[in-house]
Amino acid sequence: MHMYDILAKKREGLALSREEIEFFIRGFTAGEIPDYQASALLMAICIQGMDERETADLTLSMAHSGEMADLSQIPGIKGDKHSTGGVGDKTTLIVGPLAAACGVVVAKMSGRGLGYTGGTIDKLESIPGFSTQQSPQRFAQIAEEVGVCIVGQSGELAPADKKLYALRDVTATVESIPLIASSIMSKKLAGGSDCILLDVKTGSGAFMKTLEESVQLAQAMVSIGARAGRKTAALITDMDHPLGRTVGNALEVEEACQVLCGEGPGDLRALSVELAAWMAWMAGKAPSLEEARALAEEKLRDGSALERFCRMVQAQGGDPSVAEHPERLPRAAVSLAVLAPKDGWLCRVDTREAGRASVVLGAGRETRESALDYGAGIRFAKVLGDPVRQGEPLGWVYASTEGRAQEGARLLAGALEIGERPPEKRPLFYAAITEKGTQRL
Ligand code: URA
Repeated sequence: MHMYDILAKKREGLALSREEIEFFIRGFTAGEIPDYQASALLMAICIQGMDERETADLTLSMAHSGEMADLSQIPGIKGDKHSTGGVGDKTTLIVGPLAAACGVVVAKMSGRGLGYTGGTIDKLESIPGFSTQQSPQRFAQIAEEVGVCIVGQSGELAPADKKLYALRDVTATVESIPLIASSIMSKKLAGGSDCILLDVKTGSGAFMKTLEESVQLAQAMVSIGARAGRKTAALITDMDHPLGRTVGNALEVEEACQVLCGEGPGDLRALSVELAAWMAWMAGKAPSLEEARALAEEKLRDGSALERFCRMVQAQGGDPSVAEHPERLPRAAVSLAVLAPKDGWLCRVDTREAGRASVVLGAGRETRESALDYGAGIRFAKVLGDPVRQGEPLGWVYASTEGRAQEGARLLAGALEIGERPPEKRPLFYAAITEKGTQRL
């Protein structure tokens, strides 16, 4: 088999065989296929696409390029949840413990922030003492005893994706549904859970800006999961506005704890309950989605989810008292208010720009080596559709230096638009995709 022939075939828009895909992934991971040929194939895939069978073969091949986690020694049905990335998305901190309280075992690997989007591992590491590195034995023990353990991705997980992603990043080949779907699902399949719930974001802060593209991505991922024999479903949810009212690691932990304590913003609470309910339903912990929702509501209300969160934090070396004492989380030295320039309604939030502002403030990484400032970020005083008066705070930025705070405030101010009329209300949920089909919500 020759890479040249594989390239020519895809250039002509023909489907690659499983053997050809495996030849490419094996050779590229081993360093035998050079970057220039891999880049050419990625670009051909971007332009010509891949059918469902090819995408599934590519995903399985990438998943098997490294370690496949074996969770079989942990009793119970293991459930995973993945967000395609957003701004202020701290749902995993709530959904993990809440799904565990509903009886699902959440033995999960999560990622760090990527570009302007945040990552669960960075958020958890803002809790004093919390360790996202656990030995495989301790990981399994915590998952079994507490029902939830969240660790960083092992370097051995889907190494083909790591190499391919780095190449896509610099060859303008990130925006391709088969490539995004295979990248995400290869890591999910290698993570070893029985059920996979995908939260596919849509809107100005999402990878997929339109509903149409988001649905296509979700359908591609659900089809891969089904072909791989894992129970997989996806919800399409809004990312045209940051989720909740905070962006930034410790600020988001604080807000997640508010929801676990029965308070917090309504959108964050509603999304977290829905995601946990789907996980419980998929894992067979309730006979219907309706009953799963009631179960998740009850476990949030009666404090069971909060208790799981505290036990997880303690088991992973962190200080569980932060749940009720947010002042024990890292705090930024400088805060600045962003004021409304005129009367009106907050009618648009450029969510990607708000995410960019949080990175400049220190909540994300500008380069791979950047150190995070855990206390940095944004707290919104107003959300989409709120009436505002000139001079009122739209939000506050937090940073460790005056210079960063000013730069972040400037970017945030540019991301917020005040209009003369309230905007149309956007739904939080757009569609649900299962192996049976797509349902618009
Ligand atoms: N997240 C991933 O892991 N991969 C992609 O290609 C896009 C988002």
